[in-house]
Amino acid sequence: MSDFQPILTEHIHQKECHTLSFYISVGGYSALEKVLAMSADDVIELVKASNLRGRGGAGFPAGVKWSFIPQDGEKPKYLINNADESEPGTFKDRLLINKTPHQILEGMIIASYAIGCNTAFIYIRGEFFKEYQLLEKVVAEAYEGNFLGKGILGSDYDLDVVIHRGAGAYICGEETGLIESLEGKRGWPRIKPPFPAIEGYLKCPTVVNNVETLSNLPHIINRGPEWFKSIGPEKGPGPKLFCVSGNVNSPGVFEEPMGIPLKDLIFDLAGGIKDGNELKAVFPGGSSSAILTAEEALSVNMDFDSLAEIKTMLGSAGVIVMDEKVDMVQACLNIARFYAHESCGQCTPCREGTAWLVKILTRITSGDGNSNDIDMILEITDNIGGLIDFSKGSFGKTICPFGEAVAWPVRSFVEKFENNFRQYISQEESVT
Ligand SMILES: Cc1cc2nc3c(=O)[nH]c(=O)nc-3n(C[C@H](O)[C@H](O)[C@H](O)COP(=O)(O)O)c2cc1C
Ligand code: SF4
Repeated sequence: MSDFQPILTEHIHQKECHTLSFYISVGGYSALEKVLAMSADDVIELVKASNLRGRGGAGFPAGVKWSFIPQDGEKPKYLINNADESEPGTFKDRLLINKTPHQILEGMIIASYAIGCNTAFIYIRGEFFKEYQLLEKVVAEAYEGNFLGKGILGSDYDLDVVIHRGAGAYICGEETGLIESLEGKRGWPRIKPPFPAIEGYLKCPTVVNNVETLSNLPHIINRGPEWFKSIGPEKGPGPKLFCVSGNVNSPGVFEEPMGIPLKDLIFDLAGGIKDGNELKAVFPGGSSSAILTAEEALSVNMDFDSLAEIKTMLGSAGVIVMDEKVDMVQACLNIARFYAHESCGQCTPCREGTAWLVKILTRITSGDGNSNDIDMILEITDNIGGLIDFSKGSFGKTICPFGEAVAWPVRSFVEKFENNFRQYISQEESVT
């Protein structure tokens, strides 16, 4: 068991930890005071130097993203806190919202100051109604304490925060779908470029950052980039919240250093596999990541680069554990159904391909599959999401990365557990 002391979740077991008075009693908003005495450029440089990478899925360096915001002063700039958290197997942002909402808000104010924004949004998943109500109270408290509003803490910096509720669409977690939805339109992702940093909300420069990314900022400001880089791998460091679910004895959210071995997460922190069963497979980064075999899972570390090396991803760090009893073909169908339901329908390969995958997988599981079906699934996934080749930077054949989010897991099920698919088909072919 590691001796790492939680940073983002240090106080979550204490009573009233969500209140302003509690947050201030443990040093909350002291980073904001420091930031207000710095120049915006210096804040960006400091965050760049920390190598903080986004916790929402793509792992893009936060400070670099902020530096893309044009500083010519012509258009207003916006910050959006992505609290849509809809990736299957992911429930870390919800914990942060419930337990340390002022830490998130302090991160938002720091990021807004750095990019020169005076209106920031929290886009919260529609199903998080209790969390929405809590955030309303937290934002009101912050206004009362002059951490928001005009002349924050006696400075000449003004910031308003607006909370916007989503309506339950997974695709509104994708940053450009989110922006469309925030503008009051259907949540259809936009073609990039232009990226939101140039043309985002109302065609103005916009940064979208995840709840957990923002929560790291007060700590980076207070303790410095070198401290941050000393936690886990230097190129993608920091404390990380891992959500572990599935066939484990003690599912939950665990804060550990980036780069912890996946086997430690499963066997030490989450109490090992239920009922003494054998480990079969693991999604390391939500259902959009390529699945790992037990052998791969037992030897990989949980950081951006280690997972990319074995052609999967850290994503949202939603670790879904499957034991030997899981039927991999049924699990694959379940995933495909989710994506077919959530496809926004703009791109033909995604709209049609996801429906075809469901059709073929249903055919296989219901006893009508044939040996061509496996090749057909692979061909369809290639046409939706391209081949998995991380050396190529850009993968997709669709408007947004949802295409890869379907193609990679489905393809990995078939490639890594082909025998399970063949068993279904050979049973069927031997009957006919
Ligand atoms: C289909 C899809 C769903 C996504 N859902 C979320 C989400 O629920 N929360 C989130 O923070 N990022 C989500 N993302 C990633 C966002 O597009 C974006 O990269 C992220 O919010 C940027 O924040 P970060 O740089 O702090 O990670 C999703 C991406 C895709 C393609
Ligand atoms: S890839 Fe799918 S979800 Fe993304 S824009 Fe195209 S149809 Fe919509």
